Amino acid sequence: MTFPTDRQRVADQLKLGSELLYLSRQDVEQLGLTRDALLELTRQALVEHGHRRYEMPAKIGVHPYDNVFYHAMPAYLPGPGIVGAKWIECYPDNPRTFGLPQTTGLLVLNDVESGVPLAVMDSAWLTAMRTPAVTVLAAAALHPGATTFGMFGCGVQGIEHVRYAVLAMPELETVYVYDTNEAAADALIAKLQPELGVRIAKGESPEAVTKSAEVLSSATVILREPLAVVKDEWVTAGQTILPCDLNTFWDPRTSRRADKYIVDSVEEHELFASMGYFPDGLPEVAAETGEVLAGVQPGRENADEIIVNSNIGMAVCDIAVGHAIMHRALEHGAGVRLPL
Ligand SMILES: NC(=O)c1ccc[n+]([C@@H]2O[C@H](COP(=O)([O-])OP(=O)(O)OC[C@H]3O[C@@H](n4cnc5c(N)ncnc54)[C@H](O)[C@@H]3O)[C@@H](O)[C@H]2O)c1
Repeated sequence: MTFPTDRQRVADQLKLGSELLYLSRQDVEQLGLTRDALLELTRQALVEHGHRRYEMPAKIGVHPYDNVFYHAMPAYLPGPGIVGAKWIECYPDNPRTFGLPQTTGLLVLNDVESGVPLAVMDSAWLTAMRTPAVTVLAAAALHPGATTFGMFGCGVQGIEHVRYAVLAMPELETVYVYDTNEAAADALIAKLQPELGVRIAKGESPEAVTKSAEVLSSATVILREPLAVVKDEWVTAGQTILPCDLNTFWDPRTSRRADKYIVDSVEEHELFASMGYFPDGLPEVAAETGEVLAGVQPGRENADEIIVNSNIGMAVCDIAVGHAIMHRALEHGAGVRLPL
């Protein structure tokens, strides 16, 4: 699937400047964009980023409580002409305190030519989809032929990471999953084992999972002080580690001694570092994820390299996916039109 770019199709369906399309979480989910399509849209957005064909200031945010953030994530992709912003929050204690998700938010899309708002949509689903898409696109590029994958955190992101890993890593045979909440790991296995053609095994401990999988990812919580759950001594030559929870889960020594520390966005990581998220300092960055996917920078250069690839999330991916969702919704008559 390529970016839908026909502005006239939008103008034919929406009274530009007089109304916008509102899409609820259910509307977005029911549109049926496939994971294959989402992988391709995300890949294209990363390639645009890798070629520096974007405008995307690092996330600005507000922080009402410690370890809580709201981020404003605007972006513009001049190639396909997509502009918009995600407004997202992360409350790590929400599941325990309120039975609500950690991550919720909204995406706004605008018409590049006139600037008028086109759509507002729930962004939980697209965040749950584009984040693992980035991880596994990078995993497939940085670690082709991997047969084992380890996932730390079995919540919204963990479940989708496993689904996407199976899709993008064709040689995969075994997936190891671990969660401090054992019920979450059990639920992931009960849900995904019947639908996926790989063995999904519950890891006994973070150490056992780290020592069993060539490629590892984590989606747990983002905290200023690293939890350093995975000790550096457990990480061995040739492994690829792809956190989407910044530096929280991993011993900071691993990122520092890795042969390559690759990030989705240097600016985003520098911003988090300036807010105290890397108490030991940001490791030296070898490349950006999009540059590797665009072939502008090398990925893995030998089988022994330890590679850490931190993807904290980029608005270019959100607006690319959101734009495709909006086009599909207009085609299918989904959502509610609201007056401006
Ligand atoms: N990089 C990105 O683009 C991006 C996007 C969305 C979410 N995230 C991050 O991903 C993380 C997970 O998000 P989610 O929506 O899946 O949350 P979630 O609450 O649905 O799942 C998190 C899971 O991690 C588990 N967990 C917590 N601490 C753990 C630990 N020390 N060891 C093992 N498991 C642990 C929890 O029990 C829970 O099952 C959050 O930190 C979130 O901020 C990143």
